[in-house]
Amino acid sequence: MSNHALANAAEVLKTARCAMAFTGAGISVESGIPPFRGPGGVWSKYDPDKFEKGYFKRHPEEVWPLLKEIFFDMLGRARPNPAHLALAELEAAGKLAGIVTQNIDSLHQAAGSRVVHEYHGSTRRMRCLSCLTFFDSAAISLKTLPPPCPACGGLLKPDFVFFGEGIPSDVHAAATDLAKQADVCLVIGTGGEVIPAGRIPHVVKQHGGTIIEINLRDTAYTYNTTDYFLEGKAGTRTPELVRAVLG
Ligand code: APR
Repeated sequence: MSNHALANAAEVLKTARCAMAFTGAGISVESGIPPFRGPGGVWSKYDPDKFEKGYFKRHPEEVWPLLKEIFFDMLGRARPNPAHLALAELEAAGKLAGIVTQNIDSLHQAAGSRVVHEYHGSTRRMRCLSCLTFFDSAAISLKTLPPPCPACGGLLKPDFVFFGEGIPSDVHAAATDLAKQADVCLVIGTGGEVIPAGRIPHVVKQHGGTIIEINLRDTAYTYNTTDYFLEGKAGTRTPELVRAVLG
């Protein structure tokens, strides 16, 4: 990656009025969580159609073991990597107003970030589809699957967005408001292939903002939305950028 792009991106970030970050699975790959698409991606091993809300409700005994395998077993072991930590440092220095993440791994919060809009929800909670009660996932045993609702014995669903499900309206509003205010958006570890999340960088751009993209490879953003492309691993490029901004 050219130092020229890094220096220019750092200058833009330094002078930003309101900078934000939009992150995807790529920022957590160096924490040991596989991406969904690309080499070794989750959707190259599991059929995404099974994670559609209607299918889940019809076949919970088939889907719940997959949910445990993909989203719960490994999550307990994952720790924030230098990319998550760099964004938390940028926020603590008053240079990042917030993060909109597509990830459900809570690693931004674990790194110390305070303003995190979880556009696709998180694994932290589950909700009963019968009595609609929320439960802390840590309080639900996954020894028997599907885990019964502790209150009514109904079907529990992890509180993250399945295909075919809407985005929680409060999160959508908060994320869109931030994108409208932002004059700089760091787009890290996402190809923006899923809508409406993937529209966030376009909202920033439409309101005159500047896009700094960090990714291993070019994406659908790179040639028509991105202003500065920092090629490489999030865990390397993000701290580099933050060092260049904060010194
Ligand atoms: N550093 C930076 N970028 C990386 C790294 C890395 N170490 N590893 C992978 N990437 C990039 C890939 O090049 C790709 O652009 O991260 C992106 C991962 O893409 P996806 O797996 O599609 O992840 P994401 O864009 O977050 O998916 C969006 O799709 O299945 C749904 O709900 C799920 O939130 C997810 C949504």
